[in-house]
Amino acid sequence: MKTVITYGTFDLLHRGHIRLLERAKKLGDYLIVGVTSDDYDRTRGKINVSESLEERIAAIEATHLADKIIIEEYEGQKIDDIKRYNVDIFAIGSDWVGKFDYLKDYCEVIYLERTKGISSSQIRTANRNTKMGIVGNTPDFLAKFQSEDIFVNGIEIIGICTTNIANMNDTIKNLPVVTTDYAELLKHVDAVYLYLDDIDNYSYVKKALENHKHVLCESPIALKAEECTELFALAKKNNCVLVDGIRTAYSTAYSRLLLLLKSGKIGDILDVSVTCTSMKKCLRNKTFFDWGPNALLPVFQILGTNYQTKQFIVKFSDEQKEIDTYTKVNLLYDKASATIKVAKGAKSEGSLVITGTKGYIYVPSPWWKMDYFEVRYENQEENKRYFYQLDGEGIRYELVTFSQIIEQRKDNYYITPEISFAFCQMMEDFIQKKDMIDIS
Ligand code: CTP
Repeated sequence: MKTVITYGTFDLLHRGHIRLLERAKKLGDYLIVGVTSDDYDRTRGKINVSESLEERIAAIEATHLADKIIIEEYEGQKIDDIKRYNVDIFAIGSDWVGKFDYLKDYCEVIYLERTKGISSSQIRTANRNTKMGIVGNTPDFLAKFQSEDIFVNGIEIIGICTTNIANMNDTIKNLPVVTTDYAELLKHVDAVYLYLDDIDNYSYVKKALENHKHVLCESPIALKAEECTELFALAKKNNCVLVDGIRTAYSTAYSRLLLLLKSGKIGDILDVSVTCTSMKKCLRNKTFFDWGPNALLPVFQILGTNYQTKQFIVKFSDEQKEIDTYTKVNLLYDKASATIKVAKGAKSEGSLVITGTKGYIYVPSPWWKMDYFEVRYENQEENKRYFYQLDGEGIRYELVTFSQIIEQRKDNYYITPEISFAFCQMMEDFIQKKDMIDIS
């Protein structure tokens, strides 16, 4: 009996995949199909995959071409599989010519002609096809943001609304739509990304939603809780997606950390301590507006938004009295506590520490660009380190998720409207100096 093996992601199973499987099957008597796991795909840069592993396996099963389906989870697994299943032939599409010659030491390697004119990427791009406009005046960051769209199937950044075009890079200057008029930008796009350097997110978000455009907005969406409620109601009414843009939320390491906590790895959670500081200039009038949502994100996602009491401890700038140089927030929950510290113009260790009854999680500075964390115990031999890929500072993952939400393939918003609301409530209380001790 001749055993053949092939591998792939097989997202949105298409004619090219089926032809590949049919020909691979004909090469022998028994066909094994290796389907890549979601995690493995992410580590090799395939971040756009639409279907879950279960959906992709079910689609292959339905073809009745595979005699056995296995999951490919790590680099180097192919050699193990070939030995384990006594494989005679490794078959793969011609887009991989030469790449798997190293397997010739273990079995025959055959490259099959790739079917022309179709691919999963193409289908995903066609399904989504969102034209996006960016709004903001910060050249470095917007250049980075704009350059990430090539990694995202189905989102194309086609325009910018800015009053700072002179300082933008050439790619941005040459986008099809360059304007200082927000209404003009909205005419040309399906979605906007807001990175405003004033604090008027609310009116920009509202205008976009009124024009039936999806919105990805650097947090906070608004500075009043009731404005936030109004915006989400408007988004719902107009069938638009509205999401807080906090890149950390979309990184693999961060989402694994949340799952790990749910599994009880460090026991009951007693405290979350978060610090975000930098010496950069405050962008949006208050340091708390710039950093607050990012720092509050793990607190609200781990402990929820129903804190019992809160206390702001604030040092305002000596030169610009309205800007907080340093803000600390203490939150008390029913059976836990949290502290966040944010500063622009003061420095501390930008770590995230989660205290549990069995152990703790430590994420080193800068935790908000997380690609690694440690679970630590009293007995250090039990400590574990977790590493994940973080490309493009997380911008591409954020954009992929945004595009998947638009395509309605994902209804589990990473940052729920409830959390967005809690951010806005915090901002409102901060402005009103509610529960605030001023240590200026
Ligand atoms: N394949 C093929 N013809 C196509 C597309 C894919 O023969 N038009 C083959 C690939 O060469 C590979 C297998 O199908 O052997 C699984 O490929 P996969 O990467 O999952 O599919 P793509 O459509 O290439 O996916 P993507 O666009 O995400 O790269």
